[in-house]
Amino acid sequence: MKVVITRKMPDSTVALLAEHCDVYMWPDEHEPISRHKLMEQITDADALFTNVTDRIDRELLDAAPRLKVISTMAVGFNNIDVAEATRRGIPVGHTPEVLTEAVADLTFALLLATARRVVAGMAFIREDRWKAWGPMLLTGQNVYGATIGIIGMGRIGEGVARRARGFGMNILYCNRSRKETAEQALGAAYCSLDELLKRSDYVVMLAPSTKETFRMIGAREFALMKPNAIFINTSRGTNVDEAAMIEALRTGQIWGAGLDVFETEPIRPDHPLFALDNVVMLPHIGSATVETRLKMAEIAALNILAGLKGEPLPYRVNPEVHVAEGAQNKIK
Ligand code: GLV
Ligand code: GLV
Repeated sequence: MKVVITRKMPDSTVALLAEHCDVYMWPDEHEPISRHKLMEQITDADALFTNVTDRIDRELLDAAPRLKVISTMAVGFNNIDVAEATRRGIPVGHTPEVLTEAVADLTFALLLATARRVVAGMAFIREDRWKAWGPMLLTGQNVYGATIGIIGMGRIGEGVARRARGFGMNILYCNRSRKETAEQALGAAYCSLDELLKRSDYVVMLAPSTKETFRMIGAREFALMKPNAIFINTSRGTNVDEAAMIEALRTGQIWGAGLDVFETEPIRPDHPLFALDNVVMLPHIGSATVETRLKMAEIAALNILAGLKGEPLPYRVNPEVHVAEGAQNKIK
């Protein structure tokens, strides 16, 4: 059995797989594997260990006749054509749960950093502009007691709501379906997206990237937000119309934004967002703590090993694949 790993992974993860399979691993930790190299390596692969930067589409699956399992080291799987994998009977694994608290922490870090101008304050000192204490110097927005609106109340949304409670915040949320457990346990109030946008001081985007959420926040939505609103995105950049967001930030229609994700990644220093002084940006590091990333890599490897054995993956995106296989086994 051969597994293809598309980015240099920790030794412990590779060892877990090498015990059972031949491993091809792209040797660079920072530079993604080229499409050409991936197409070449996938032709005789039984398993694919991927990550958010690889596009796993029909063309790639066509080139991989032996592929038995796809495993991504991420909770989001919008880079994978899951419907196509399902059609071919290939289970797709991901790594939810272990990253929930780390991503909720980073979401709150961005919220606080944007509200209290943490990065601007550091630059202010570095540039030697700090001449004296000033009554209105680097004044930001209140967090404690403010209203937070969470778009997408999944596990990470609940993690953010738990933190918001500690900050005495009034919590609103919208979601495809109501989450009565979150309402009871966290005091979150369910409302429509428009109402959330009109009432929130902090609008936090945590919805998954799907056809329905593509650019769900655009010019109309930014126009509904308060002038003191801070928009936080730690989900996927494609959930937002980036040009409309830049316009809302530039014209002061909203007060600021804290962003860990972008429409096209990576962004470079010549990106129009850098012309603004009311944004805090990070390079897609929501789950990036040592402990969390090691656990994600381990779960991604365990998903692969289960898939190669024909067992249900510990965390699967398309469980219907295994239902179908179970039925086939019974017919035999
Ligand atoms: C990272 O963006 C993830 O989906 O885990
Ligand atoms: C967005 O609100 C979603 O989770 O569907």
